[in-house]
Amino acid sequence: MCGIVGYVGYQNAVDILLDGLKHLEYRGYDSSGIALMSNGEIKVYKALGKLQNLVDTMKKEKITSCNTGIGHIRWATHGLPTLANAHPHSCNCKGLTLVHNGIIENYQEIKETLIKNGAIFKSQTDTEVAAQLIAFEYGKTNDLVQAVSSAVSKLKGAWAFCVMHKNEPETIVATRKNAPLLIGAGENENFLSSDIAAIIKYTKKAIYLNDGQITKISKDKIQIFNEDLTPASNRMEILPFEAHSLSKMGYKHFMLKEIHEQPDVVRNILQDKIKDEISDIALNGVNLDINSLKKINRIQIIACGTSLHAGLVGKYVIEDLTGIPVSVEASSEYIYRRSIADENTLVIGISQSGETADTITAIKQVKEKGAHVLIITNRKESLLSRLSDSLFHINAGIEVSVAATKSYTAQLVSIYLLGIFIAQTLNMDKKRIQEIKHELLTLPSKLEAVLSGELTIKKLAKKYSGFKNFIFIARGINYPTALEGALKLKEISYINATGYPAGELKHGPIAMLDETMPVLAILNKGIVYDKVMSNCEEAYARQAKLIGVANEIDERHKELFDDFVIIPPVSDIVSPALNVTVLQLFAYFIAEYLGKDVDQPRNLAKSVTVE
Ligand code: AGP
Repeated sequence: MCGIVGYVGYQNAVDILLDGLKHLEYRGYDSSGIALMSNGEIKVYKALGKLQNLVDTMKKEKITSCNTGIGHIRWATHGLPTLANAHPHSCNCKGLTLVHNGIIENYQEIKETLIKNGAIFKSQTDTEVAAQLIAFEYGKTNDLVQAVSSAVSKLKGAWAFCVMHKNEPETIVATRKNAPLLIGAGENENFLSSDIAAIIKYTKKAIYLNDGQITKISKDKIQIFNEDLTPASNRMEILPFEAHSLSKMGYKHFMLKEIHEQPDVVRNILQDKIKDEISDIALNGVNLDINSLKKINRIQIIACGTSLHAGLVGKYVIEDLTGIPVSVEASSEYIYRRSIADENTLVIGISQSGETADTITAIKQVKEKGAHVLIITNRKESLLSRLSDSLFHINAGIEVSVAATKSYTAQLVSIYLLGIFIAQTLNMDKKRIQEIKHELLTLPSKLEAVLSGELTIKKLAKKYSGFKNFIFIARGINYPTALEGALKLKEISYINATGYPAGELKHGPIAMLDETMPVLAILNKGIVYDKVMSNCEEAYARQAKLIGVANEIDERHKELFDDFVIIPPVSDIVSPALNVTVLQLFAYFIAEYLGKDVDQPRNLAKSVTVE
């Protein structure tokens, strides 16, 4: 996690660094800091808590004449969120300063050696160890690139570093391994950042560093070196995003804006893939043909959090359409057991950010076993994308809110398309494929209908905002929707919510039901409607307050419900993509009503780059 940014150019570095950090706030927000280099001197400024505290500090400093600096926003891994632990970190003589994203696993043993050599440590962080180590190596060569190279060769773990040394003015040296870092190329100015978001306002030209590469940037020069310090010439890429995707566009929070973007996000994905209900769909980037698919005897889906919930929907969709057995597992669990993936396995990794460390590790493992790796991600330039044999770019635009919304819906639609693609390639049930295509093509307008009814959900959220616990129930393909709705509520309102398969209620959770425990039931008209309704009867009999999310509620059942939200009719298989919007809005309005920090909930970061 954490966000890093670097700048060398002609503009005021303070403004660029603070603005860059603002756009990286979703990566962490325990503390922040910047280091500025001018006149052969490096000065470090830090603040605890939100970035605004650093902005206020820097306003008082009134620095306008510095054009080189590095910045950091922290999500604590080693050591408490204190000023001493905040980045940037320096060596003892303060000649060298760096910022770091990642975890250095062997920092304790290196620290002990450095202490024996006279280093004095002021923080509990692994990062300060890196600063002292690079400074130690610099003492041998007086060359920052060489010092960084020999220091990182001694490290284990994951890192992206931006390093400045007072003897190398108007220069930043940076390197990365298993953590993201890109160079933004400008006119008479260059940038470094852990994410496009920090630099997109200034340049659309970017160069991605490969694992182990080192770069040295000044305002008019970018040098890149391979791990063995031979010169490298990486490709310049044009960034796909527009700066306006980083604006709230009049909405109170990014989360609400992103929920409202969902109809267009779905239209965008479908646009160049489904022409009509009859024609075959084309998925550029998915390198699977009839011969490779005939070999596949199992599919494994690996993901975390919200992406894992999309994967659970994927199991229903792909098994229904293709008959191929699908298992779904949290990446963090997959890593630590014997994997049975082999060359006849299709492994689908799902990740909005493409940076999630657990998913990256799991995918690296299955690649070694010869499985075909298909990545579904919102970041086609990400580490996971680079590991893929097939890539499905969901193209949902930058998602700023820590709580994933539009990326989830886009992942779901991608999974429907992938299921259709596999089924059509294997010549399976054409009629079923046509039905699903029809449902997908009508999904954007149904999403708009749900969004236009948001006032009802807002009123409901206010009514239920005082409850401390919720149970969300559903069956079949909407069980993951219940999990996702509960996760959204937990993430942004800190209210305890649990998702259950409705049939499991009577196997334990029913013991908790009384008038203090609302039950939200997802009841689409379909094969499980009557079954879920029976479970609602059971909850009603225990005095639980019942909220129904349904296409319609029969007259005879209406009295069971304290409240319901009626959404447009939709087929069972596509219903998760519609139902989830109601739950996203419900979670959003409760958190907003309770005055929570919706876009940056406590303890969370958008990209979880540590295992
Ligand atoms: C979603 O609201 C969460 N912030 C979180 O569960 C997230 O989905 C998870 O960390 C996985 O992230 P990824 O999709 O970027 O891999």
